Amino acid sequence: MRAGRNSGTVMAAAKKSPAADSATVPTGKLPAATGKPSAAATNSPVAPGAFITVEGADGAGKTTHLDFIERHLRSHGHAVTRSREPGGTALGERLRGLLLGGPDADADAAISDRAELLLVFAARAQHLDEVIAPALAAGRWVLCDRFTDATYAYQGGGRGLDARAIAVLEQWTHGELQPDLTLLLDVPVEVGQARTRRREQAEQGGDRGDGADGADRFERESTEFKQAVRAAYLARAAQFPARIKRIDAAVGIAQVRAELQTVLDAFDRARQTGKPRQASQNA
Ligand SMILES: Nc1ncnc2c1ncn2[C@@H]1O[C@H](COP(=O)(O)OP(=O)(O)OP(=O)(O)O)[C@@H](O)[C@H]1O
Ligand SMILES: [Mg+2]
Repeated sequence: MRAGRNSGTVMAAAKKSPAADSATVPTGKLPAATGKPSAAATNSPVAPGAFITVEGADGAGKTTHLDFIERHLRSHGHAVTRSREPGGTALGERLRGLLLGGPDADADAAISDRAELLLVFAARAQHLDEVIAPALAAGRWVLCDRFTDATYAYQGGGRGLDARAIAVLEQWTHGELQPDLTLLLDVPVEVGQARTRRREQAEQGGDRGDGADGADRFERESTEFKQAVRAAYLARAAQFPARIKRIDAAVGIAQVRAELQTVLDAFDRARQTGKPRQASQNA
């Protein structure tokens, strides 16, 4: 995860996404959320957009491939709103700064695991209300660098917070609005670590322009933490095979692109032919 690049390249867009494949979300004690992001989409008369998220560990290649994915979608005639989490709004970017911290760990504010989880969802609520739901409602395709799967991976797998607590917050924040497609860029932990190290060395001394010159709060975590993050991501992919497509991202950039292109083409075709998402993606 990185603190600054792409800051606020947020653009907006249309539809009510179907609920997550088959997620059984425990009923929380929270009252139903107001401002329901999916409500605007439900009544939308415009062609439906799609919500695509890109996930994976630090250094997996999300940023590297987002430009390619965006170009691919635009070349297929889709209006694209690109964003990221945490972030994507003025509030979200400020919360991102707190969550990711800076290169000097001692200067970071202490954040308990529970507080971290709530900050992530606070940023997400703002992002949904201000950016994602309006963009989908306008028929745009939303392409987002990380979303709630990252919360299950980092705060659930990494921090060890109970997935049921995450599910309650997920349900309250965006239960009816889920990604249509999630591209999980998967790399072994040591590959991600080596890439982020190389990236940081290459950028050291220069102005990275994103306000973070070294490892962030998550990149500084132990190898065990990162292994738990990866395991949680893979468990999510196994739980939602129709939505989450695991891409082997340990191979060269061209190979990753080729696989991304195959998955995106299949997704686009399935939508054009009106095939149910789950059926097409389980095939
Ligand atoms: N398939 C690949 N093969 C070799 N190097 C790669 C590959 N994909 C990305 N890289 C390089 O690895 C580094 C990390 O990639 P990138 O910044 O895209 O990862 P990220 O998933 O966005 O990480 P973060 O979560 O920290 O934002 C970059 O220097 C990038 O050029
Ligand atoms: Mg990145």
